[in-house]
Amino acid sequence: MANLPAPDQLESVLDQAWQQLALGASRRHSPFHQGVLASIGEAGVDARYVVLRGAERSSHTLAFHTDRRSPKCEQLLRHPQVAWCFFGDGVQLRCSGLAALLEAGDPLESAWDRTTSFGRRCYRVEQAPGSRLDGPDSGLPASALDPNEPAEAADSGRPNFARVEVTLQQIDWLHLGHAGHRRALFEAGDGWQGRWIQP
Ligand SMILES: Cc1cc2nc3c(=O)[nH]c(=O)nc-3n(C[C@H](O)[C@H](O)[C@H](O)COP(=O)(O)O)c2cc1C
Repeated sequence: MANLPAPDQLESVLDQAWQQLALGASRRHSPFHQGVLASIGEAGVDARYVVLRGAERSSHTLAFHTDRRSPKCEQLLRHPQVAWCFFGDGVQLRCSGLAALLEAGDPLESAWDRTTSFGRRCYRVEQAPGSRLDGPDSGLPASALDPNEPAEAADSGRPNFARVEVTLQQIDWLHLGHAGHRRALFEAGDGWQGRWIQP
């Protein structure tokens, strides 16, 4: 895919950023489908890829799904401030904001309903992500790999499923170009306030 155009108007830059995030959430092959999420852990900064599962401009939120038992969840409960960084088609988006862990309620139920059976399987690992194992293993129960397993069993990971919604406070847009880079910073408040900054 060719590089995205670099709009001359701040409003068009912001439109483009949200369009790319919306495409990232809905299209598996978009470069914005996954990004690196940085959080604050006990030993300092921590970062990992997560898949973008929602991007809603009206509420300024991005979302991902995760295993409730994974260490990042405790980190986010203690320190909700996160940065989520994406790159594709010549554009870097550094999105930062406050993360909220959803463990119940309608948004969680509908997120689970939209999850494929392959996706649901991730939540069936027997131990928490990051637990020590005696050898190389996926940690999935043998039944999860049995094609004749009853369909309901695919839901056994449901209690481990969580959705994290990040309410964005800032989007830092950087466009790489041969003739020079461009950069703009947007801050959320009553709407978004943008300004050009030195790339
Ligand atoms: C491309 C890619 C996408 C990933 N997507 C997710 C995801 O959406 N949710 C998730 O919890 N982990 C995802 N992971 C695994 C995480 O990067 C990480 O290894 C795992 O969640 C444990 O993280 P933690 O120890 O910081 O909690 C993904 C990994 C890769 C390489």
